[in-house]
Amino acid sequence: MKRTKFFFVAMIFIFCAALIGCGDSSTSTSQRSVAICFPNTTPSWQRNGDSLKKMLEEENFSVNIQFAGDTEEQKQQVTEVIESKPSCIVIGAIDSAAFAEVLTQAKDFSIPVIAFDRIILNTDAVSYYASFDNDAIGEGMGLYFESALNLKNGGGPYNIELFAGGPSDNNAHIFFRQTMQILEPYFQSGQLICRSGQKDFDSCAVADWNSSNARPRIQKILADFYGEETLHAVLSPNDDIAGVIIDELQKAGKPNVLISGLDGDPAAFERIKSGTQTFTISKDPDTLTAKCVRMIKAVVEGTQPDINDVTTYNNGVITVPAYLCTPQIIDKTNVQ
Ligand code: BGC
Repeated sequence: MKRTKFFFVAMIFIFCAALIGCGDSSTSTSQRSVAICFPNTTPSWQRNGDSLKKMLEEENFSVNIQFAGDTEEQKQQVTEVIESKPSCIVIGAIDSAAFAEVLTQAKDFSIPVIAFDRIILNTDAVSYYASFDNDAIGEGMGLYFESALNLKNGGGPYNIELFAGGPSDNNAHIFFRQTMQILEPYFQSGQLICRSGQKDFDSCAVADWNSSNARPRIQKILADFYGEETLHAVLSPNDDIAGVIIDELQKAGKPNVLISGLDGDPAAFERIKSGTQTFTISKDPDTLTAKCVRMIKAVVEGTQPDINDVTTYNNGVITVPAYLCTPQIIDKTNVQ
């Protein structure tokens, strides 16, 4: 009788051990799961998402990718993915400052977070930052205008209008600040003239980087200030917004305007070829996602990520170790 009881207890023990074993194997599956939370606001995010998902799947990660149209939706998505306890979360934040509270939960669950393209502010829950050199992007735009308008050698006066990205995105501020650092002396010298007078970030910002928000502003500027006057140049913070501005320039019969862009959207390459857009600063998604995958592997597998910047991105709480990829200027000379 005693032996039967022992046998019975032993069987229960083995059964429980097997169940725990199953639990282990499902944990190890979730240890290779990555949640990606991106905006759906511009074509470049879709390209980045597709590229990241593909590379991660090639590395045998399971991928849950979410796209959001506004901050509230994205906060909801991030909260939900934290509950599913993936081994890593990659966030392209719609609002750089909106995630501090939501991410405390990720920290409590020890889920590493990687900021993608845009830094996440005011939290120590971010492990790494994968991006392009945002200072170089803003500077590159300014230098292109300086050179194309021959400003260093006294070129001008030229009329220019300015657009900036969405105020809730930290990058938008960096791009504009860096560009204006190059251009400001030429406004002072009178070589550049902004007839609308709208030169500060807030007046130039396009809410949420949503290109349709740029349309009424360029329409009004053209109607109010450029009926007869020539508009020589427009600073556009990305390709999507450049597309809308160029559309309005054409409707207003102003085809030869020097205009910038950012991202390297296929539509921008076509406009550069046809001569309606002057240049874009291309951010190759595969270059960035390859670095991001290295970071994900580092936090999940304990390997070494590529880091090339440990000083620039203080997010208000910590300085986030970053890899900043090099963007490339594309204009009619190299668009082919
Ligand atoms: C990115 C740009 C992008 C913009 C709009 C910025 O944070 O750096 O590449 O065009 O967001 O999505």
